[in-house]
Amino acid sequence: MSPRKPIRIAPSLLSADFARLGEQIRMVEEARADLLHLDIMDGHFAPNLSFGVPVVKSIARCTKLLLDAHLMITDPGRYAPKFAEAGAGGITFHIETTEQPRELVRQIRDLGVQVGVALNPDTPADAIDDIIADVDLVLVMTVWPGFGGQRFMDECVKKIETISGRLSKTQWLEVDGGINPETTRRVVSAGADTLVAGSAVFHAEDPPSMIAALRRAAAEGIGRPGMEPKL
Ligand code: DX5
Ligand code: ZN
Repeated sequence: MSPRKPIRIAPSLLSADFARLGEQIRMVEEARADLLHLDIMDGHFAPNLSFGVPVVKSIARCTKLLLDAHLMITDPGRYAPKFAEAGAGGITFHIETTEQPRELVRQIRDLGVQVGVALNPDTPADAIDDIIADVDLVLVMTVWPGFGGQRFMDECVKKIETISGRLSKTQWLEVDGGINPETTRRVVSAGADTLVAGSAVFHAEDPPSMIAALRRAAAEGIGRPGMEPKL
């Protein structure tokens, strides 16, 4: 059975060498990464700081890949326009950061970018009920926001399955945290199609081979008898 849509690999620059960012981006672009995942943190929502608008602007100048901005910040509505203007092609906010998700989805959509909503590991699938039909992408966190290199949380797999069953064929289901070839098989079996990988890619001895290995693992995840993603 073929997947409901292509599998996409999204290297997360959080684990890249920031002193050689252009070079690292070219490397994953040549290795046929599908997106570049940009982790934006403000030290409030996530217990870490990363990078902001000027860096995203520079990144946009050196790649054609879609920039997948993952806003782990307390006030996504305030900064979304700035990231869109800087060149983000998709903006994902955390459901935990807003009481008015419908308005936020509309606001981000009006910026002309793809809209995503992310859920922390302990946030239930039902938390996005009001907006699930209106977003382009749902991001299920399989680690706590803040750092690369954390261990994949198995208890989130059930939520991937649940959300997969609620999405249409045109909506993406992204998984972020602890993704490697082994966990890739499991999340793809559960219905994920967009795989964020930070340390697995950038700390690999040979990042292009790791991207290829993730793709192979994803194909195996799709192919597992009885575990095909729901159509
Ligand atoms: C964590 C970030 C992730 C992180 C993933 O807050 O959202 O995107 O870069 O890193 P790995 O793939 O190393 O778990
Ligand atoms: Zn992320």
